[in-house]
Amino acid sequence: MNKKITIAIDGFSSTGKSTLAKQLANNLGYVYVDTGAMYRAVALFAMQNGCIGNEYFDKEALVNSLPTIRLQFRYNPEMGFAEMYLNDTNVEKDIRNIEVSSFVSKVATITEVRAKLVEQQKAMGKDKGIVMDGRDIGTVVFPDAELKIFMTANGTTRAKRRYDELLAKGNAVTFEEVLKNVEERDYIDTHRDNSPLVLAEDAIEIDNSHLTREEQFEIVLGLVNEVTKTE
Ligand code: DC
Repeated sequence: MNKKITIAIDGFSSTGKSTLAKQLANNLGYVYVDTGAMYRAVALFAMQNGCIGNEYFDKEALVNSLPTIRLQFRYNPEMGFAEMYLNDTNVEKDIRNIEVSSFVSKVATITEVRAKLVEQQKAMGKDKGIVMDGRDIGTVVFPDAELKIFMTANGTTRAKRRYDELLAKGNAVTFEEVLKNVEERDYIDTHRDNSPLVLAEDAIEIDNSHLTREEQFEIVLGLVNEVTKTE
């Protein structure tokens, strides 16, 4: 049997990281962890507890509340992946709306938030056999990952994908609103002081603007096979 490895998938928002990560995890029998869901759950907590809104962001209140925030992934066999729970409540749907998307990048700049989540992510990967997606997985969480993928696609393509996804879920949004959100998040994610989104030296970059899901999956599965053969 091939040796289990750690697969780190980083990249810009709406590049299909989680789709690819889920495909790989299901195919390889690995655990899949969506770290964006963890930052989104903290953002939802901040919104629900009056720490963040359109006109304010009380960082200190959020940092002081961190010990009371419990994040868990619980596997849903019907969905085929683990859903996000915030203090024992399933928040999988709530964390995907545009309001959470508009606050999450700000919440993800907070050093104490990152420290708490990174510690939990490292613990989840200690036995390998894991596919984790996010922004700092190959650089901070698993700098020794055997395979690092960095996904990109042009902004308009990504906004269109996100827009279609939100519409399908019944969200009333405009394309311009979604594009603006994608561009704002790109800016904050790449310019923050703590663990910005950067291409790790040893990461393999994949631009999927013109690739189908299947093509992309085959490319990355080929890379996994190459690595596990030599490991
Ligand atoms: O992958 P996503 O769009 O669900 O991530 C939501 C936000 O969380 C994104 O704007 C940046 C942040 N994030 C992060 O800073 N580090 C991670 N490892 C994952 C997500």
